[in-house]
Amino acid sequence: MQEKLGDFSVTLGGRQYKPLMLGGMGVNISNADLVLAIEKLGGIAHLSDALLMDVADREFGTHYCQAKIRKFKRYLNDPDKSAVSFDLHDLAESTKLYISEVMKKKTGKGLVLINCMEKLTMNAAAETLKVRLNAALDAGIDGITMGAGLHLSSMRLIKDNARFREALLGIIVSSVRALKIFLQRAQQVERLPDYVVVEGPLAGGHLGFGDDWSQYNLEDIVRDVKKYLADNGMAQIPVFAAGGIFTGGDAVHMLRDVGADGVQVATRFTIAKECGLPDDVKQRYIDAKPEDVEVNHFSTTGYPMRMLKYSPAKASDIRPNCEAYGYLLSNGQCSYIKEWHARKGAKEEGLQVPEHTKCCLCTHMRNYKVWTCGATVSRLKETTVRLADGSWYLPTARQIYEDYMTSTAQHIAVARPEE
Ligand SMILES: Cc1cc2nc3c(=O)[nH]c(=O)nc-3n(C[C@H](O)[C@H](O)[C@H](O)COP(=O)(O)O)c2cc1C
Repeated sequence: MQEKLGDFSVTLGGRQYKPLMLGGMGVNISNADLVLAIEKLGGIAHLSDALLMDVADREFGTHYCQAKIRKFKRYLNDPDKSAVSFDLHDLAESTKLYISEVMKKKTGKGLVLINCMEKLTMNAAAETLKVRLNAALDAGIDGITMGAGLHLSSMRLIKDNARFREALLGIIVSSVRALKIFLQRAQQVERLPDYVVVEGPLAGGHLGFGDDWSQYNLEDIVRDVKKYLADNGMAQIPVFAAGGIFTGGDAVHMLRDVGADGVQVATRFTIAKECGLPDDVKQRYIDAKPEDVEVNHFSTTGYPMRMLKYSPAKASDIRPNCEAYGYLLSNGQCSYIKEWHARKGAKEEGLQVPEHTKCCLCTHMRNYKVWTCGATVSRLKETTVRLADGSWYLPTARQIYEDYMTSTAQHIAVARPEE
């Protein structure tokens, strides 16, 4: 009997891999260092395509955001941002620059995918999405995983790309219903996804559920998705289960007992040495207790989001930064802009200031002030040790990856500083 995750494999693009994917974590949390460390071990890992103009500016010294602010600074105090748009050439260039730098460093042992959050509407959903997806393919990414507000026509947006049939294309869903609708559209361009990630209610980041998220169960959704694919002649499409898979034993259970073909994980890797979160935030994640985690509506995407309840973004009153980022703008609007202007107006007139209910998600994700995490974050302290100075040891990506691969039952190999 297969007892360790390392005993299993999954086939993607005709090659076999270990069935563990690192999920995309934006903004630049699943960064190049983390993704490449996993790829080097023969693993599969996602970059994130969130805010790539800003990420490129920080990593490579380009000036994409500066140019954008300069162009739109007259809208800084305007609550209507309809005129703010992305320079599509810059969007393509920054995406290509970021991805091609990572692909140059790949060993070829594993896969580097990119997580494309389709809810990042940028005041022109289809146009910007088309550029983001095509630029990622042009830069040589091994595959794209589309999720977060799945755009039903995304396959059509890339159908003329030379790599449309060669690159891996996957989708993230939280229900059979979403999968069905997407597949109907995909059939129109005769291109099925190469894999499906089923994200359950315990995942980090945004949830694909409403406030009744706790009524759902990952195992049930995976079983439903597997059955739907089998009943419709698509049993060959591998299904990855995501959300709350904390140990190698959890992963084996998903594959052996539930029928998934692989797992997608993230929370365990948030504290990896290579991960993009600042080290002091990693320490906060390890310190977190179960009662510190909440699912709230501070995100301006309209989806519930799981985070540590003392995430600094929740109490922040910064002016919206749409001129620099503007990722969530739709018809010039974002719910934070409205709230910020209402609060500002009330303060100026000495009226009662309305409560915070939203945050400037782009700015705060970029500054690592939204401490989003999976439901298992409070268990991270079971995976590592305290150092002499009282801080927690931050494991390497390899230590975490190998623990997933080799652990049996619920055992966790506690990470310790390496000699
Ligand atoms: C810090 C953090 C950031 C995340 N950001 C994204 C994201 O940008 N896009 C996305 O589709 N999923 C995001 N996720 C979800 C993960 O990719 C993954 O599917 C999920 O968290 C797996 O569950 P686990 O964290 O319990 O292992 C994020 C998760 C975490 C913990």
